[in-house]
Amino acid sequence: MSSLLRRAGLMLGAAVLLSASLALAQTQAQPPAPAEETPEMFPDAPHREEAFYACIACHNFKLVAAQGMSREKWGETLAWMVSKHNMQPLAEEDRKKVLDYLEASFPPKAPSQQGGWKNPFLN
Ligand code: HEC
Repeated sequence: MSSLLRRAGLMLGAAVLLSASLALAQTQAQPPAPAEETPEMFPDAPHREEAFYACIACHNFKLVAAQGMSREKWGETLAWMVSKHNMQPLAEEDRKKVLDYLEASFPPKAPSQQGGWKNPFLN
């Protein structure tokens, strides 16, 4: 009986320890950029740093790099970040720089690169 109780106590202790270390892990995950992501991982074009740091406050840059759009669509994306996701509007000068980078590095993808459904009978 008492060994059962002791075992329950041990398990409780382990659970407390586990949740404490989970909480610690969460506070340590605070820096905005996942540690493994750096501007150098993305295509080398003017204003890479500006674009990178403008976006990673909220999400990783991979999410951005996964897209391919015209300058106009990138502009709409920025406006959408501001209106829907509480992004601080960029100063006009910075907005231009960020758009320069996005346009140069992540242009619209050719339809064949877009993945999506392919008709198996056409290949
Ligand atoms: C203030 C926060 C914030 C900032 C700064 C921000 N975004 Fe976002 N963004 C979001 C949120 C929230 C989402 C939607 C949730 C998610 O997918 O993580 C999102 C999603 C996206 C998506 C994905 C859309 C999709 O179809 O999945 C793109 C592209 C994007 N953001 C581009 C940018 C670019 C480019 C920048 C920098 C110039 C930027 N964001 C900066 C908050 C932000």
